[in-house]
Amino acid sequence: MPVLVTGGAGYIGSHTCVELLNAGYDIVVVDNFSNSKPEVLNRIKEIAGRDFKFYAADLLDRNGLERIFSENCIEAVIHFAGLKAVGESVSIPLKYYYNNITGTIELCEAMARHGVKKIVFSSSATVYGNPKSVPIKEDFPLGPTNPYGRTKYMIEEILKDLYVSDNEWGVVLLRYFNPIGAHESGRIGEDPNGIPNNLMPYITQVAVGKMDKLNVFGNDYNTHDGTGVRDYIHVIDLAKGHLKALEKVMRGSGVDIYNLGTGTGYSVLDVVKTFEKVTGQVIPYVITDRRPGDIDMCYADPSKAFDELGWKAEKDLEDMCRDSWNWQKNNPNGYE
Ligand code: NAD
Ligand code: UD1
Repeated sequence: MPVLVTGGAGYIGSHTCVELLNAGYDIVVVDNFSNSKPEVLNRIKEIAGRDFKFYAADLLDRNGLERIFSENCIEAVIHFAGLKAVGESVSIPLKYYYNNITGTIELCEAMARHGVKKIVFSSSATVYGNPKSVPIKEDFPLGPTNPYGRTKYMIEEILKDLYVSDNEWGVVLLRYFNPIGAHESGRIGEDPNGIPNNLMPYITQVAVGKMDKLNVFGNDYNTHDGTGVRDYIHVIDLAKGHLKALEKVMRGSGVDIYNLGTGTGYSVLDVVKTFEKVTGQVIPYVITDRRPGDIDMCYADPSKAFDELGWKAEKDLEDMCRDSWNWQKNNPNGYE
């Protein structure tokens, strides 16, 4: 029985589709291409050497979802579909609340109508807000600081309530730290629209000549070199975490929460230096003001995922930089 992957044409979803297909799962993918391109589907098939069913549909379209669940005997859902730009969520909050929360409610209603009660959800380390200390454990207090983060927090609560109302649900909430990197083939990777918000796509676009220089947002943070520290995780490690989470939801019911990170924090300048070292590209940069809302340090304690799922990140920062660059240099304009 197939696994439904929502948002499977996106950055993390596409890499997870490859890992699912490689592991022998049948998949059905749904995406509305609001932040992705149809070409990615060909690339997934090419890498995995296997075909899968795809629906160009919006989670907000009840009839579209009904069709997917009627035409396929779905066993479980991995739910990536959502909007993720923090800055945009501050300017257009209702778009984020409507798409992410209503989309998830529609999805869960369709699942319930069809007796599908297993879901793995893409949450984010952003639910922790400004953590009291690092490394961050799953039982730390939550306090997202922007509308995007609040959609993740609210969806976590909705899924917990669903389990309380019906103990047959199996829910895994995965809190990702900072996914970067790309499939080692260089055929799929992150393809942001317009000017990248996040560090690694910005660096690779400087390297490929689309941007002049990197703006380093502040060097007066309380970190070893003053620049912000994050837990960067290779997207393939992250994708593999979803297979472990899927095994977990299939084993039984309940709600389980896991941090997916490496447990190591790197500063902006650590990333720039490692990127330069492994790619031979020079990344000019200037120090600018802090970006509003940024914090000093954010990295995971990933031990719960290891103890309970048997998962840990295998790839290091050099692998992440090499694979991000391999994708960008082979696809300077992304999937276009
Ligand atoms: P992405 O934008 O590349 O992928 C999301 C996909 O969902 C896109 O292909 C988009 O077209 C699709 N989508 C959005 N709304 C939809 C809707 N209503 N109906 C159907 N499809 C819809 O993002 P990503 O980086 O792959 O992230 C995947 C998930 O992980 C998101 O929920 C995101 O919030 C979460 N997440 C991402 C990061 C990160 O840094 N990339 C970190 C933490 C959590
Ligand atoms: C951002 C989001 C967060 C989301 C995460 C993963 C914000 C405020 N937060 O977090 O909600 O979960 O992405 O998608 O947007 N940096 C620069 N120059 C740049 C870009 C980034 O110096 O051009 C620095 C940042 O200040 C930060 C680090 O690089 O210290 C990482 O930034 P980014 O990749 O945007 O991730 P987060 O800030 O962790």
